[in-house]
Amino acid sequence: MSKTVNSVAGKVCVVTGAGSGIGRALALELAKRGARLALSDVGEAGLAETVQRARALGAQVHTARLDISDREAFFAYARVVVDELGVVHQVYNNAGVASSGTVLTSDWSEYQRVLGINLFGVIHGTQAFLPHLIASGDGHVVNISSLNGFMAQSGLSAYSASKFGVRGFTEALRAEVLAAGQPVGVTVVHPGGVRTSIATSALEHAKASGHRVSAAEEAQQRRYNEKLLRMPPEQAARIVVDGVEAGRPRVLVGRDAKLVDAVVRLVPAHYPALVARLARRTSR
Ligand SMILES: NC(=O)c1ccc[n+]([C@@H]2O[C@H](COP(=O)([O-])OP(=O)(O)OC[C@H]3O[C@@H](n4cnc5c(N)ncnc54)[C@H](O)[C@@H]3O)[C@@H](O)[C@H]2O)c1
Repeated sequence: MSKTVNSVAGKVCVVTGAGSGIGRALALELAKRGARLALSDVGEAGLAETVQRARALGAQVHTARLDISDREAFFAYARVVVDELGVVHQVYNNAGVASSGTVLTSDWSEYQRVLGINLFGVIHGTQAFLPHLIASGDGHVVNISSLNGFMAQSGLSAYSASKFGVRGFTEALRAEVLAAGQPVGVTVVHPGGVRTSIATSALEHAKASGHRVSAAEEAQQRRYNEKLLRMPPEQAARIVVDGVEAGRPRVLVGRDAKLVDAVVRLVPAHYPALVARLARRTSR
């Protein structure tokens, strides 16, 4: 029996954080499959490149600079997109940042920044567009969490809290939409390591904020990227859009995400000890 596929062709799809990494790859994958696009990012240079590449693939593209942590700006953006494109079918709440630091030493401002972008940004995007997705008669919310949405890691408390939050928020939304019989699919995505700039950008941000980053820490970061951030973003984007077209509520991206999911289910109380052991090994 063939599986039902609800194609993205002809649909209006909103992608945040489209200027780099998974967001750019999602935009280009959606363009290849015939979607119309509303692309945004806080960084304009990266966004301009994505827009140019999506247009070269023949896509109609609406483009805007947007900081997803700014709730008012997000709602104003949603109104503009609906005014200009007439309808919105899908929103990919993708933009996010990484951050590291122990609970003992992390500044409160860093928790505010990371949760403001990774969790509140996703809530803003969902609330701003949900009425329009319902009105489209065939809507879909796609929220990008992480494998850190079901496995917390040492040194990543802000990031893990934000990504567990995205998962909880999205699963609650799915239950609401199902209970109300609204015509909106809901997907939470848990990528494992994807080869993007996320870790390098976090390091740059830490330096720009006045944190001293030693050569040893930089070298450790490089080793971490090489060992763990391996899947090409184009492949991740194909897995996500395939999952959306198949109407999957939960998409795990990569063997690492699937393995970690299985381990956490097997030993939910004891996995932090395994994580600690792994952290010691990857830091060597
Ligand atoms: N790369 C991975 O291994 C990985 C794994 C799991 C989850 N994720 C998640 O995937 C998503 C995309 O990350 P990526 O790896 O492509 O990173 P990336 O750094 O390559 O891209 C993130 C994009 O988001 C944008 N952005 C950052 N803050 C923003 C803000 N306030 N408003 C609007 N845009 C903003 C950046 O400018 C950048 O273009 C994130 O939510 C991330 O947490 C990534």
